Amino acid sequence: MKIAIFASGFGSNFQAIVNAVNARKIDAEIALLFCDKKDAYVIQRANEQMIPVISFSPADFSSKAMYEAELLHLLEEEQVELVVLAGYMRIIGPTLLEVFSNQMINIHPSLLPDFPGLHGIEDAFNAKVSETGVTVHYVDNGVDTGPIIAQEKVTIEEKETLASLTEKIHNVEHKLYPNVLAQLIKIHQGASRL
Ligand code: GRF
Repeated sequence: MKIAIFASGFGSNFQAIVNAVNARKIDAEIALLFCDKKDAYVIQRANEQMIPVISFSPADFSSKAMYEAELLHLLEEEQVELVVLAGYMRIIGPTLLEVFSNQMINIHPSLLPDFPGLHGIEDAFNAKVSETGVTVHYVDNGVDTGPIIAQEKVTIEEKETLASLTEKIHNVEHKLYPNVLAQLIKIHQGASRL
């Protein structure tokens, strides 16, 4: 299956997925990395792996719809079947969602529906809850509201710091996301053989 990864920043989840594809744990071809920030570190990671990088931002277009129309065109041209958001810091608009709503997944660093939005780890830490976690979900038109595919809990210990919690969450993400992706692709391949 051809997948595209959308990311905006550091790209540690991008790297975890690339590693799993290289190790043949995920039966997919990464057609492209799309990055909306031209100086993001994730671009360097993709270059090292010789994964094609496409980078532009909504500021390069007259509207968000035009920006997404260009993205849609790229995805269709490359025959991408699944879009994997990995730290892509933008809301997906109707132009992309109309076509890709059942073929677009996201990872979020909390146990949704708790603590959606930009600061999932920090918000859970500040709320002093005893557990938080990681969620993989389909993307819909809300902020981290789409149907949940998988979740994994992370305990917040008495002596936890924000830094130690952040590290624990990322470690879970880097295993959970590749595993879920591998499963989804297997299910899809099984279904298309029927
Ligand atoms: C991750 O915590 C992910 O859950 C969230 O954004 C962060 C991206 O980190 N959506 P990275 O760029 O993959 O290192």
